[in-house]
Amino acid sequence: MRKPIIAGNWKMNMNPTETREFVEGVKGQLSDTVEAVIAAPALDLTTLIDAAKGSALAPAAQDASEFDAGAYTGQNSPKVLKEIGTKYVILGHSERRQYQHETDAEVNAKAKALFRNDLLPIICVGETLEQREAGQTEDFVATQVEGALTGLTAEQVKNTVIAYEPIWAIGTGKTASAEQAQAVCAHIRATVAKLYDQGTSDALRIQYGGSMKPANVKELMAQPDIDGGLVGGASLKADSFLELVHYND
Ligand code: G3H
Repeated sequence: MRKPIIAGNWKMNMNPTETREFVEGVKGQLSDTVEAVIAAPALDLTTLIDAAKGSALAPAAQDASEFDAGAYTGQNSPKVLKEIGTKYVILGHSERRQYQHETDAEVNAKAKALFRNDLLPIICVGETLEQREAGQTEDFVATQVEGALTGLTAEQVKNTVIAYEPIWAIGTGKTASAEQAQAVCAHIRATVAKLYDQGTSDALRIQYGGSMKPANVKELMAQPDIDGGLVGGASLKADSFLELVHYND
């Protein structure tokens, strides 16, 4: 059985004071059956980890370097992320692919760096509107999945989360329909089964991301291959984040 995972991606929002207030607002009200994760900006991460101590809230970073240490100005070391108490790291978010020109090969190197440091990746994939309209969605997403997972062991893939985020649905208020999201998530699972085996793909958790909110979470989460959400806007307020985490209550 795959445990549902609702992860808030705060992107470059929230400051340490807001972070502390948010955690106070959700602490003690989380769920035993749904994993709750917040990916804070790097500058808020120690505040988040400190405030969330003793609660079920899992802290995540929004990126990490593929290197543990060295002359890499401005990057965040996975080794240090682990040391401060981070659990997950988002990799290959479409905003990083767009603005930092991050490639599948870099995402793959970073995923290996995370496992080397006992951290878990949330790997983002997803097509543009042009690719969807050209009928390229499934091939493109499968290529991203294969590129990101190259060289990982089956055991590592079982502990990976893949977030399917159609770029046209991010921050636009335009959600993929539950059927559209399910179709691509099923294709991702089939791709992993082909690359590894059925047991590995059955264990892998797949999230949907792109304007997920309390109003649509239930329908999306009811899909057989959607195990969670990677949520931007609707994760910034404690009450709406809690509604998402408790989608099934
Ligand atoms: O990482 C989260 C996604 O980019 C979705 O953002 O929920 O604001 O559309 P959104």
